[in-house]
Amino acid sequence: MTKLITGGTGFIGAELARILVERGENVVLFDIAPNYNRLEGIETKVKVVQGDLSNWSEVFNVVKENSIQCIYHLGGMLSVPSNANPWASFRANVCGTFHVLEAARLFEVEKVIFSSTSATYGLDTEPVVTDKSVQRPTTMYGCGKVYGELLGRFYLNKFGLDFRSVRYPSIIGPGVKTPGVAQYNSWMIEHAALGKPFECDVTEETTIPVMYFKDAARCADMICEAPKEKIKTVNYNVNGISPQKTAKEIELIIKKYLPEAVITYHPNPEIMKFYKSLNMETYDDTNAREEWGWTPLYQTFEKVVADFIEEIRQHPKRYGIT
Ligand SMILES: NC(=O)c1ccc[n+]([C@@H]2O[C@H](COP(=O)([O-])OP(=O)(O)OC[C@H]3O[C@@H](n4cnc5c(N)ncnc54)[C@H](O)[C@@H]3O)[C@@H](O)[C@H]2O)c1
Repeated sequence: MTKLITGGTGFIGAELARILVERGENVVLFDIAPNYNRLEGIETKVKVVQGDLSNWSEVFNVVKENSIQCIYHLGGMLSVPSNANPWASFRANVCGTFHVLEAARLFEVEKVIFSSTSATYGLDTEPVVTDKSVQRPTTMYGCGKVYGELLGRFYLNKFGLDFRSVRYPSIIGPGVKTPGVAQYNSWMIEHAALGKPFECDVTEETTIPVMYFKDAARCADMICEAPKEKIKTVNYNVNGISPQKTAKEIELIIKKYLPEAVITYHPNPEIMKFYKSLNMETYDDTNAREEWGWTPLYQTFEKVVADFIEEIRQHPKRYGIT
């Protein structure tokens, strides 16, 4: 079986490719701007196809030419770039997901795994967010992802496509370059590991649900491997580190490993408005845990910080660290 990962050289996609290659699977990576550094160590074991999700012929072609049987659809634009250019985001995220689902239908792909986001929740969200919470996102990114989740469910019901999706919280790990509201989590650790000071743009009390990137890749693999009869909810919340930690608590954990770390706080009022509106105290992933056994391996910041530091030391090229 050949599997396709859209956005396959991205932060999560490349890590997922690593898992699949290590298991001996055939993997094709489709990406508009392939980042070969991320593939360090597996570059000769994957096929990379440069292409644009918004161009349906390129999506259909990669699926048909490679006899793809399973698609992990991880490609697209993240939150801040989507809000900055909503028109490009519409083409990449909304049209792109439609193209992937159409390719799956027309070329008889068995399964599509879709990466959605906790940013599909928004206005008036209750402090405990479950799979049944109302999704009223306030961002272009969140709106596009809600469409993807529901369109996938439509393809499941109408065409029998085996569609499954996970709503990731903010993903943290080494080498994050895209600007984003939750990036302080990754950048605090990365700067400290590189001996550089870091100024957080949030208050010391700020919290947000996060997951380590290795768990995000494992999660996509796990939901894909789950037996079909276990998939009842279809679109799942998935959580990582629990309970959430404040920025200050993370700083203190980092200092256990890197006592010289210099971390300061200069909250940005615009970013703080976002956190105040977020109000997400518990990101409930009970259905994912009960239906297909989701459990993160990295459940504490201590474990994440230790692995993060090691990854940077071992693989600076992979994470674009100069
Ligand atoms: N990183 C997070 O915090 C986070 C949180 C929730 C959900 N997600 C979702 O997980 C998925 C993977 O995210 P990531 O963190 O690896 O992001 P990433 O930006 O590292 O990876 C996305 C990849 O998609 C590619 N891409 C963008 N537009 C494309 C297009 N038009 N055609 C083909 N490829 C295109 C990019 O080049 C990139 O390699 C995304 O769907 C994202 O929305 C990520």
